[in-house]
Amino acid sequence: MYYPTYLQLEKILDAQHPESVRLGKPAHDEMLFIIIHQAYELWFKQILFEVGSVHGIMASPQINDNSPELQVAVRRLHRVVEIMRLLVDQINVMETMTPLDFLDFRDMLRPASGFQSMQFKILETRLGLRVAERHGQQYFTSQLKPEDASHIYDLEKETPLLDLVNRWLERMPYFSDAECWTGWTGEGDFWNHYRQLYHDSLGEGEKQNIRVFDELFMTDDGHSSQRLSDRARRSALFIMLYRDYPILQNPYRLLNHLLEIDELLATWRWRHMNMVHRMIGTRVGTGGSTGKGYLREAAMKHYIFGELAELTSFLVQRTALPDLPPALSRKLGYSTL
Ligand code: HEM
Repeated sequence: MYYPTYLQLEKILDAQHPESVRLGKPAHDEMLFIIIHQAYELWFKQILFEVGSVHGIMASPQINDNSPELQVAVRRLHRVVEIMRLLVDQINVMETMTPLDFLDFRDMLRPASGFQSMQFKILETRLGLRVAERHGQQYFTSQLKPEDASHIYDLEKETPLLDLVNRWLERMPYFSDAECWTGWTGEGDFWNHYRQLYHDSLGEGEKQNIRVFDELFMTDDGHSSQRLSDRARRSALFIMLYRDYPILQNPYRLLNHLLEIDELLATWRWRHMNMVHRMIGTRVGTGGSTGKGYLREAAMKHYIFGELAELTSFLVQRTALPDLPPALSRKLGYSTL
């Protein structure tokens, strides 16, 4: 093997062809503009590769929470998180280009736009964002080639990571195993007891939150428009509350990485939006959207794991948490290995 051959550098390094050069009006900063987008797309490819493998693991009908499989999923999601941090930081490099530098070649790019980044759209879709929940659905027809738009609609029919996580949470066995609760001394079952603790923790002026708690955790109505079922939400809350038990550490890390991914995607969106504002003010995008206006609405609306993030509203202080019965404590410890 030879370094340039292995990395196919001939192809990669021959893929920067500024439009301004082709049109005979070379603009110095267009090289940076091309390379930075290509670097993003390469990282998107790696992220999709990792998310695809996590998808494969989470799609299996049974995952032992203490298995190497779950550890692998957690480690790969952690990798995605670190790549995303890099992607946010890359905006600093983009911002070394000034608005005037950009104007030298901006008009030559129409109607191309980052909106047409298929890998970005695929990533959002694989994680769980649905077209119906998107801001600016009309740009799907005006900015994307019909085959690209269809590709996203088709992909949406496959189960996204968010729904796989929901199923995985629903499978958490401890609440359907009566043996685990032998010796439980709380009032009623665990969740009725917890509901009372949560109620007692609410200050005046927020007592009505108990109704939201009931709606999200206790109804099991199955008609909810939400992406997580009550049962899955209970498992996620339980994992957050008792995350220091060995068996719950990896499930907790997994949930935490999903929240980090959402937070970093949002951070990227806001930084990108502010950069765009600085670069083109309030002008429309090269793709034809309202520019900053579109990006702001998308940033607010396109959270994917928001329902997981909201669960923190329902935590109670650690000191108030009930002790788990001995049988369950044993199951959540290393002794079950
Ligand atoms: C001078 C730098 C940049 C400007 C002025 C800019 C501008 C814009 C604008 C105005 C949009 C809205 C769609 C449109 O009408 O065009 C957009 C979307 C987008 N851009 Fe950029 N962009 C820049 C750099 C980048 C970079 C470096 C990336 C990295 C991949 C990127 C990725 C995206 C993505 C993924 C979208 C779709 C976002 C969404 O739908 O939430 N942009 N950009």
